[in-house]
Amino acid sequence: ATTTMQAYRASLLHFHADPAFNDDAHAWHEDGLLLIEDGRVKAAGDYAKLACMLPDGVTPVDYRGMVITPGFIDTHLHFPQTDMIASPSPGLLPWLETYTFPTERRFEDPAHARSTAEFFLDELLRCGTTTAVVYCTVHPQSVDAFFEVSEARNLRMVAGKVLMDRHCPDFLRDVEGGVGDSAALIEKWHKRGRQLYAITPRFAPTSTDAQLHATGELAAAYPDTFIQTHVSENKDECKWVGELHPQARSYLDVYERFGLMRPRALFGHCIWLDDDDFARMAHTGSAAAVCPTSNLFLGSGLFDFERADRAGALLSLGTDVGAGTSFSMLQTMNEAYKVARLKGSYLKAERMFYLATLGAARAMGLEGTIGSFAPGAEADFIVLDPKATPLMARRTAQLASLEELLFALALLGDDRSIKATYSNGKQVHAR
Ligand code: GUN
Ligand code: ZN
Repeated sequence: ATTTMQAYRASLLHFHADPAFNDDAHAWHEDGLLLIEDGRVKAAGDYAKLACMLPDGVTPVDYRGMVITPGFIDTHLHFPQTDMIASPSPGLLPWLETYTFPTERRFEDPAHARSTAEFFLDELLRCGTTTAVVYCTVHPQSVDAFFEVSEARNLRMVAGKVLMDRHCPDFLRDVEGGVGDSAALIEKWHKRGRQLYAITPRFAPTSTDAQLHATGELAAAYPDTFIQTHVSENKDECKWVGELHPQARSYLDVYERFGLMRPRALFGHCIWLDDDDFARMAHTGSAAAVCPTSNLFLGSGLFDFERADRAGALLSLGTDVGAGTSFSMLQTMNEAYKVARLKGSYLKAERMFYLATLGAARAMGLEGTIGSFAPGAEADFIVLDPKATPLMARRTAQLASLEELLFALALLGDDRSIKATYSNGKQVHAR
């Protein structure tokens, strides 16, 4: 069989450990070469060392002056909420009632779901996000539409049907088949090409105990699927869950009692968790998806990075579009940094890039597949332009360290900083 080799020359950055716990967490090759064979990473290192591996006739694409990193991974967002991003509301619960539910109703229509999925995936790729963990709506056809569009582009995506059978409008309520529909969607889509399924109970208040119980059984029957839900986002929501589940020790404990904490379970927000909750996150191998633009937008609260790190919980970053205000993981880092400052802690830029790449892959149990340039990893990568705007060019003309470069990219960068996006070795966006 013939193989196809591609090569890219640029500065290379990727991670093999968490910078919060390890002084030697990253690999940085100022003049680097990334070698791709058949859509997978063959080697990543110094140009001077690897140039000899270039086969005759393969000329590296010259991205000198740019930084190549693994594609960003966004572990929490809602594709049906694309059209309602930046909708004003005083907090989570009125926002759901006023904007979210009516918007999600439209995904009953497969044509609307398809065209929205196309736009949504374009936007992710423009922002350098190559993998996302995505909520669809309660309609199974919204999941088919999303995966059909993602599969046609051969993207590594995770998505699932929202499960919801109470405290929601009738037009979005699972009547009986919610969990059965989810099982059929798992059989159809999980591990088909690069598509992966996430069992998706919206959040505790919108499922009956019967639905949560059946959802836990489904998660046990398909242990290599993902689980995604929301937890402890908003104080009114937490109070409500306390009233609905007086026997539970905490909001998070509701999920644990129904068998919904395990590896590959991703919990959005995690703002009001206590030390015991974070210990359960770490113990069960569950992961937090931290969503700062959303939490600041809705006034939900400030994620406590130090508390989470004390417990050693798995962490990742999510945009949470449409409550999140940007599809850009760089903008998400910017807000995460400021949230950490307000909580008296400090996030290094290096850590934020880790959380958006290898950290997320670890949170998802996909280390070695995405999120780094380990040999054999899927060639999902991005080309970052540190001089994308006049201001960025001016700022990055004088840098004392790699940390300063990454910090400038995180604080000033957005979709304009993404020169190109590659998925499985193929260019899927360029500007
Ligand atoms: N909690 C339950 N549903 C949602 C949602 O769609 N967005 C956010 N941010 N929180 C939720
Ligand atoms: Zn969300």
